[in-house]
Amino acid sequence: MFNVTDFERRRKGEFGKTLYYFEELESTNILALELAKENCPEGTVILANSQTAGKGRKGNFWFSPADTNLYFTIVLKPDRSRLHYIPFCSGLAVARALEIAGITADLKWPNDVLVNGRKIAGTLIETSIEQGNLQYAIVGCGINVNTREFPEEWRRVATSVFLERQKPLLREAFLASVLFELERLYGRIEEISWQELISEVEKHSSYFRDCEVKVKLQDEIVEGLSGGLDEFGGLIVNTAGGRKVVYAGEVLECRKK
Ligand code: BTN
Repeated sequence: MFNVTDFERRRKGEFGKTLYYFEELESTNILALELAKENCPEGTVILANSQTAGKGRKGNFWFSPADTNLYFTIVLKPDRSRLHYIPFCSGLAVARALEIAGITADLKWPNDVLVNGRKIAGTLIETSIEQGNLQYAIVGCGINVNTREFPEEWRRVATSVFLERQKPLLREAFLASVLFELERLYGRIEEISWQELISEVEKHSSYFRDCEVKVKLQDEIVEGLSGGLDEFGGLIVNTAGGRKVVYAGEVLECRKK
């Protein structure tokens, strides 16, 4: 069980002040979409101790057992012109909080957080745009905190804070830390330039440049050397046939040269 009172004591900012906590949910993103539709305040957090149908990117299932990890969704209402900042702000916030906990994270496009080549956290962002106006963006975040053993199919690709530092981390404190880091970044979203944000992201990433990548798009596979991000957050891939930018795709391979 997650101790909400302890989290409340540790929370430093406004994000998470409105908190909906459940022992079990199908998916925090599903409830967040409903609450966002009903115009809940920005910064509202939906947190579950476990999920029965945690959603990952590309229709994948997110491993969500009880009492170990963090599964939460935060409702944001950024200006549409800043929407492309959100995946990078959320990855960066998790990376910074992990660093405070003594773990060096590596951000991988579009928004995976890896440690030693294995995934420790992921975010799933969903938006609602009506008549060209962004109504809200919900940021669902899953962080493997205290999992000691993953099911066979994830063992080689996933890791947790516990597995990396051989000691558990208090989820209440870690959630407060991630939300604080996110709020700090989000608070500057209007003034910070894309270049500033991206150079900060690149400091926490060994993948955005000079990696041999293979990205699966809807009907083609783009292969080449990663060359940073363009002004909308797309990954630049220098292929044999020239420069390509991918905005949505699945990174099949990403090897450091
Ligand atoms: C990914 O595949 O990398 C994204 C994973 C996102 C998982 C989180 S857990 C909390 C929130 N609720 C969900 O159903 N998914 C996200």
